[in-house]
Amino acid sequence: MAFDFATPVERRHPEGGYASQKWHRYGDDILPLWVADMDFRSPPAVIEALEKRIQHGVYGYGEVPASLKKALCDWSAVHYGWEIEPEWQHWLPGVVPALHFAAQALTEPGDAVLTVTPIYPPFLAVAERAGRIPQQVRLKEPAGPGEPWRLDIDALEAAITPQTRLLLWCQPHNPTGRVWYEEELEALAALVERFDLWVISDELHCDLLLDEGARHRPLAARFPALARRIITLWAPSKTFNLAGLSSACAVIPDAAVRRRFANACKGWLPDVNVLGLIGAEAAYREGESWRQALLSVLREHRATLSRFVARWPGVEMSAPQATYLAWLDLRKAGLGDSPYQALKERAGVALSDGAAFGCPGFVRLNFGTTARELEAALWRLDAVLGPTPQSDAL
Ligand SMILES: Cc1ncc(COP(=O)(O)O)c(C=O)c1O
Repeated sequence: MAFDFATPVERRHPEGGYASQKWHRYGDDILPLWVADMDFRSPPAVIEALEKRIQHGVYGYGEVPASLKKALCDWSAVHYGWEIEPEWQHWLPGVVPALHFAAQALTEPGDAVLTVTPIYPPFLAVAERAGRIPQQVRLKEPAGPGEPWRLDIDALEAAITPQTRLLLWCQPHNPTGRVWYEEELEALAALVERFDLWVISDELHCDLLLDEGARHRPLAARFPALARRIITLWAPSKTFNLAGLSSACAVIPDAAVRRRFANACKGWLPDVNVLGLIGAEAAYREGESWRQALLSVLREHRATLSRFVARWPGVEMSAPQATYLAWLDLRKAGLGDSPYQALKERAGVALSDGAAFGCPGFVRLNFGTTARELEAALWRLDAVLGPTPQSDAL
């Protein structure tokens, strides 16, 4: 079946006024390549399932259906080689709340929460919001052009103090798009065991590995002896473009940890939206051919982006191994202290500001849009970043 990833969908002024953060935050003159939200319609099977549920007409409190839990068990077994149980699943309306509640559940005041930077910005708020001590370790910058960002295991070990209790981990990594190498994960796992840490493994982008034949292996599956220390976070939201339906799942093999997590969440969170449950199940059951088609499109877009970046003096990018986010180093692009601001003003393109990820001078670019929209934005950037800047022509 052919899926349409080419026709732009109107999200700025759609009929019915379905406002989107991505297209509205910066106004009509700006092309948005920022928040992690794609401009593609979700898989037809998801849309059909939602339409059917809408027709039911009663939208009272829902319940996580056993069939959804089974669908996720099947998806995990088939795609990750990890046999999980339905009762390990705690569905909730988002991954970010899960980060906060997991931190509350697993640590005490006076404990420290460690993460690596750059990182998806909400990670940086978790420790403080929970009243814990924040600890951050920077990843190792690429050793040369096209080289990947690497985990700095020595720095990570050096940062661990007797207070460190929890590691906030992201794989694949937002924003660098890294799929961690075996040796990085083994070194990480050894530290987790040695220092008796809990881990929240945010694997939200794990169904978007771009390299042909690449297969996600959840941290808890790769290191079964550590599984009782790990809360794994998944959601269909990035892969199938369902973020607005608010459904995510914490996978917690250990019954006692599950109870602690459930107690921390109790009373603070609404139930998962009934449509979110329907969308998630349809996506996991019937979304695979759409996902494969999406991956081909994203690979093409990654190649398009790489061709542009190669034209831009002073701009470095290590091509993402996963997801539709690219992490660009603009420190030598001559754009001043805030390349994000400069590109918004001079190119009319909104990217995500690296400063929010703990790395000023960088930007994150979302290439999960149609080829037409992506190229329009890249040409705008080219006018500022390209070999013959023409910013006054904009
Ligand atoms: C790594 C990561 N975690 C969490 C989220 C947000 O998830 P949610 O919308 O379910 O809170 C995102 C969104 O971009 C993300 O990239």
